[in-house]
Amino acid sequence: MTERGNEFAGYRAREFAWSGQRVYLNAASFGPLPDRSKHAIDAFNARRWDAAMTDEDFILPQTRSRAAAAALIGAESNEIALTPNTNIGINIAATAAFQAGDDRRVILISDREFPANVYPWLALARQDFSVEIIPTDDAGFPREDEMLERIEEGDVAAVSVSFVQYSNGFRADTETLGTACRRNGTLFVVDAIQGVGAVPIDVRASAIDILACGGQKWLCSPWGSGFTYVRRDLITEFEPLLPGWISFEATQDFTRLTDYRYDMLEDARRFEIGSLAFQDFVGFHNSVELLLEIGVDRIFEHIRTLEDRLIGWAEARSIEVVSSLDDERRSGILCLQPPDVENVFGRLMAADVRCAYREGAIRFAPHWYNTMEEIERVIEVLDGAYVK
Ligand SMILES: Cc1ncc(COP(=O)(O)O)c(C=O)c1O
Repeated sequence: MTERGNEFAGYRAREFAWSGQRVYLNAASFGPLPDRSKHAIDAFNARRWDAAMTDEDFILPQTRSRAAAAALIGAESNEIALTPNTNIGINIAATAAFQAGDDRRVILISDREFPANVYPWLALARQDFSVEIIPTDDAGFPREDEMLERIEEGDVAAVSVSFVQYSNGFRADTETLGTACRRNGTLFVVDAIQGVGAVPIDVRASAIDILACGGQKWLCSPWGSGFTYVRRDLITEFEPLLPGWISFEATQDFTRLTDYRYDMLEDARRFEIGSLAFQDFVGFHNSVELLLEIGVDRIFEHIRTLEDRLIGWAEARSIEVVSSLDDERRSGILCLQPPDVENVFGRLMAADVRCAYREGAIRFAPHWYNTMEEIERVIEVLDGAYVK
């Protein structure tokens, strides 16, 4: 067991009754729901079933969800809008670019981005913007040097990158990109769902304007829960395309809802749209508070120790590692491309090792709850596929 593994063993025993039955290395698809979150959701629904619910029951989960999300990324609670997924957040960012009010019309993204970070921008291409897609390098990683050169030309309205690439785990240099964007007056947008919760990130150090993150993967939260960070000074610079009824000063007093006034809230709640899936945010804040309790720095260190073992195995057997091994580019995603990859993936699935097959490679996504013993089990299965 790793040092961290020992430390995490208590949490693992408390939160995941299934541990020991299967090896779950698939947080990049969706994370398991911790026991505390499941129970909190069940208790919330039971109070509703009982007709015992009061307003406080659904106000508190929202407040705690915004605070927990903010703490994960170094933001303030009032910069957090609760959103059902990542995609909504990228659309909020596209709205910000659309309403920026200058004559810049270029959106910059990399090729091979996950589609949630592509289609909202392609929609802008139908509105007098052009979307420039920078080809990836031979290894399939975004070419940040080319993006930086393009940003320096000064006519780019927005740059949008994944914090961590879904198909190979490449971690963006958000600090360098964000600094260049800030210097050039370019909106810097980050799709953070494949990193937040596993890899530390600080929105101020990275000069991020808008960060979108669904809760379903590394945050181990229910589908339908997530958040979008909008930098404080930017919040009042644009308005959501879809105005939500609770997003106005006039509707904060529930006893006088028909005193209509178009006075949008001046915090990020202006980007929320109507009633939220409150039961899902009960799960969200419990799950995120658990990650904060354990500590994302410690989680990332643990994940890397687990990955190192797989990398060592792959190198010893000359198996291709698709992910970057550059320290600054590592993340919670490690992709290997063994020969006869589909057969190997099938063997892993048959052995109840949960991982994913993406873009021709096997994607391993270990999290804090995984142990070195589980990685040894994976290696046993992999070896079984190779040693004749
Ligand atoms: C980089 C990235 N962005 C977004 C998503 C999902 O977007 P959403 O939360 O809107 O479903 C995924 C995976 O499903 C992803 O890997």
